[in-house]
This record gives sequence, C-alpha cells and structure tokens, in this order.
Amino acid sequence: MKNNPIVPYILIMAFGIALIFFMSLDGVGRQAEIAEGDNATTEEGGAGSGDAALVQSCIGCHGGDLTGGMGPSLIGLDADHIVDVLENGIEGTVMTPGMKTGDEARAIAEYISSLQ
Ligand code: HEC
Repeated sequence: MKNNPIVPYILIMAFGIALIFFMSLDGVGRQAEIAEGDNATTEEGGAGSGDAALVQSCIGCHGGDLTGGMGPSLIGLDADHIVDVLENGIEGTVMTPGMKTGDEARAIAEYISSLQ
C-alpha cells in the first residue's frame, strides 16, 4: 500500500468529502440565519422587484424608471388610461393594440400608476 500511486488521490478525495461534510454542517448550524438573510433580500427587492418585472418590456422605450425615453413618461398616468392604451393601442404609433391584455394589463397599469 505504501507505494501504491493511488494513495494521494484517495487522500485528496477524503479531504474533499470531509470539506463538503463540514461545509454542510456549517450550513445546517446557520440555517436560521441564512433563512433570515433570504427574507431580508426578498423584502427589500420585495413586491418592487416582482412588479418591476412586469414593465420589463416597456422600459426599452419609456426609460428604466418609466420617466420617458423614446416614448413619453408614464409616471402619474391613470391606471384605466394605461389599460386602455395597452389593450386598444394608440393608432399610428408603436403602441399597437393588444400589447398586453386582461389581468396582465391591469397589473401593469396598477403598478405604473402606483409609481411617483
Ligand atoms: C417600441 C417602443 C415602446 C414600447 C415597447 C412601449 N411603448 Fe408605450 N409608448 C411608446 C410611444 C412612442 C408612445 C407615444 C405614442 C404617441 O405618440 O402618442 C407610447 C405611449 C404610451 C402610453 C400613453 C402615454 C400617455 O401619456 O397617454 C402609455 C400608457 C404607454 N405607452 C404604456 C406602455 C406600457 C405599459 C408598455 C409596456 C407594456 C409600453 N408602453 C411599451 C413606445 C413604446
């Protein structure tokens, strides 16, 4: 066994397994702490980041904060007006009818109209 060339590999493997084992033990010990940290992140980004994803397809034209780009600012617009534009479009512009419909249009409109 002394001169077996495989011994170093087995040692490295044993070390790796031990390392994984201790790292996971550490994780179990800090479970509460880690879970808390996750919650904090979700709360911070929170509803905000979920809703912001709704307008992912709008920011290209209306700007990252929807205050206007190639398209006009959407800040301060009435939710009903936004739903109307999304469903019916603005004739002769890139705001084509049916860009978003139903619940999705409503969710987007509510989100945008909640922005200051
Ligand atoms: C391809 C570019 C483009 C995209 C994508 C786009 N818009 Fe527009 N949007 C415009 C332009 C340009 C206008 C101005 C049209 C006009 O001349 O009246 C406009 C107008 C509007 C208006 C009317 C603004 C007002 O003052 O009455 C609303 C509301 C609106 N967009 C909402 C959205 C929403 C919500 C999205 C994402 C779902 C979106 N737009 C995506 C280009 C875009």
